[in-house]
Amino acid sequence: LWTPARIVEDAIARVKDTVGGDHVLLGLSGGVDSSVVAALLHRAIGDQLTCVFVDNGLLRLHEGDQVMEMFAQNMGVKVIRSDSEKLFLDRLAGESDPEKKRKIIGNTFIEVFDQEASSIEGVRWLAQGTIYPDVIESAGAKTGKAHVIKSHHNVGGLPEDMALSLVEPLRELFKDEVRKIGLELGLPHDMVFRHPFPGPGLGVRILGEVRHAYAEILRRADAIYIEELHASGWYEKTSQAFAVFLPVKSVGVVGDARRYEYVIALRAVETVDFMTARWAHLPYELLEKVSNRIINEISGVSRVTYDISSKPPATIEWE
Ligand code: XMP
Repeated sequence: LWTPARIVEDAIARVKDTVGGDHVLLGLSGGVDSSVVAALLHRAIGDQLTCVFVDNGLLRLHEGDQVMEMFAQNMGVKVIRSDSEKLFLDRLAGESDPEKKRKIIGNTFIEVFDQEASSIEGVRWLAQGTIYPDVIESAGAKTGKAHVIKSHHNVGGLPEDMALSLVEPLRELFKDEVRKIGLELGLPHDMVFRHPFPGPGLGVRILGEVRHAYAEILRRADAIYIEELHASGWYEKTSQAFAVFLPVKSVGVVGDARRYEYVIALRAVETVDFMTARWAHLPYELLEKVSNRIINEISGVSRVTYDISSKPPATIEWE
């Protein structure tokens, strides 16, 4: 019987068998798949695992610190954190084309990851959080936007002499199985059931040019929205929910004072496969509370809108 405990046991045995005494490198993003791989490999080979976590400055509120606390402090996993916000934002400066932004973020990620990786001695294996649907998807050779980051690890310019082989312990598993073994390995419920977050992060949720000030506003708005979704029980009823920063200004009024500030759009969708999605019919009371909180608590925002576009024709992300 394939209980989560058996799957974990089997995966651990296979990893040990495959890598022996060699050192393994893992790109940790904080997402479910790479987190489960980190927990699994740590259980299997302990200190033979080194993770590289690239903070690109486009993560959610406190996300970088949370990843470090969870893996480095709590679990004792070796994690190298690369604080690369400045590098990413410098490269993105002045660019507003969505595809070019994605390329810049992807290429910079590879560059930073490779640089960190080449500083680690004696690595023979690269671990990846590839899951079964990724295998199917890349076999179908679609554009594979969602897995750009994962595939980057293996096409990146890792030094030739490192000759890394791939270890992909989740390759035969579906998402729900990955979640179950995440829980089995002791990862917190919130981490295991977190909504998906795109590799380019807030870079595709700040429309047009990415600026640090925009990212700061968006992080705070998104955190309020997610907090209220949790509090109302709607986080679990939606497949993905997030705030989007619109770099347009709108007039508002607080007391006697006129404000002329930015706009935040809220997005929430229900979907099974992320190929099609319906906008979530969140209760008006919830939307009202989130809107009031965002406008009152964040001085750079004067208006909040709710996105009522389904996919198709709209995509889930705005860029
Ligand atoms: P769209 O916007 O294409 O999104 O309807 C479908 C799913 O894919 C995620 N997404 C991405 N994930 N890199 C990623 O890793 C990307 O460039 C990317 N673009 C979209 C999106 O969040 C949604 O879950």
